[in-house]
Amino acid sequence: MPLRMILKGTLVTLAVAALGAAAQEIQKRGKTSYLQVDQTEPFASIFNRMTSEKAAIERRHESLLEQRYDLSNRPAKGATTLAATQPSYEEVHVFALPKLAYPIDGLAPHLSAETLEYHYGKHHQSYVDHVNELVAGKPEAGKTLEQIILGAQAGSPLFNNAAQAWNHSFYWNCMRPDGGGTPRGPLLDAVLRDFGSMEQLRAQLATAAIGHFGSGWAWLVAKDRKLAVRTTHDADLPLYHGQTALLTIDVWEHAYYIDFRNARAKYIEAFLDHLANWEFAEQNYVGDATLARAS
Ligand SMILES: [Fe+2]
Repeated sequence: MPLRMILKGTLVTLAVAALGAAAQEIQKRGKTSYLQVDQTEPFASIFNRMTSEKAAIERRHESLLEQRYDLSNRPAKGATTLAATQPSYEEVHVFALPKLAYPIDGLAPHLSAETLEYHYGKHHQSYVDHVNELVAGKPEAGKTLEQIILGAQAGSPLFNNAAQAWNHSFYWNCMRPDGGGTPRGPLLDAVLRDFGSMEQLRAQLATAAIGHFGSGWAWLVAKDRKLAVRTTHDADLPLYHGQTALLTIDVWEHAYYIDFRNARAKYIEAFLDHLANWEFAEQNYVGDATLARAS
């Protein structure tokens, strides 16, 4: 066999091996390779097509990274900063568990570190993970949590997990060490206007939270320039009903069972007396342009 033929055969063999490795990497990254070669194709042609495909993959990677950063910069309203670590190729397009504004034992003795390890570390993490799984490779992957919630069918797996991810990010900010007390400024004025007194608001929140049957949330919301107390069932949330959430209490059993067993009323009392973050509620109230015009 002429030397030229041997060299060409060797080059083609090497090219096919390289393409095989590239195809495996592409499949690992969720994209199927369209490159196919046969022994008759000139090596230069194969090489050019490989270079072109590699450039396309890199452009797609850069696009996904940009979207990942975009998502990281748009946390759920009220959430603290999302994880800001450099994403790897496999991590693009994901929502991340927001960092708590206090240590894991920062709400003790009212809510223990064990409660937060399960509630935040496992339940909330699970909602975030499920959202990522459900939107992977779909148009929703490029949207914010709020957009995903508003575009989903109520009660669907995507709605439930996205809403619960949002609700919990909001909830953690509704509590702080040495919380409780009363709101101030424009929010206090609105409370006095719409409830008559802080005691009335507290009583309505407690009654709603304690009395809600089954799993759900008790909220202080604003709609149509008025404050109101509302409850939602399971993952449902004010956003889906055109209301602005100001403060919430998680009344799912997983929120209080470790520390209070079945005594939901004791948990609600501890929340309102020692944990409620009224500064956060004030920020939500003042930050809403519609409400600011109303005050
Ligand atoms: Fe919860």
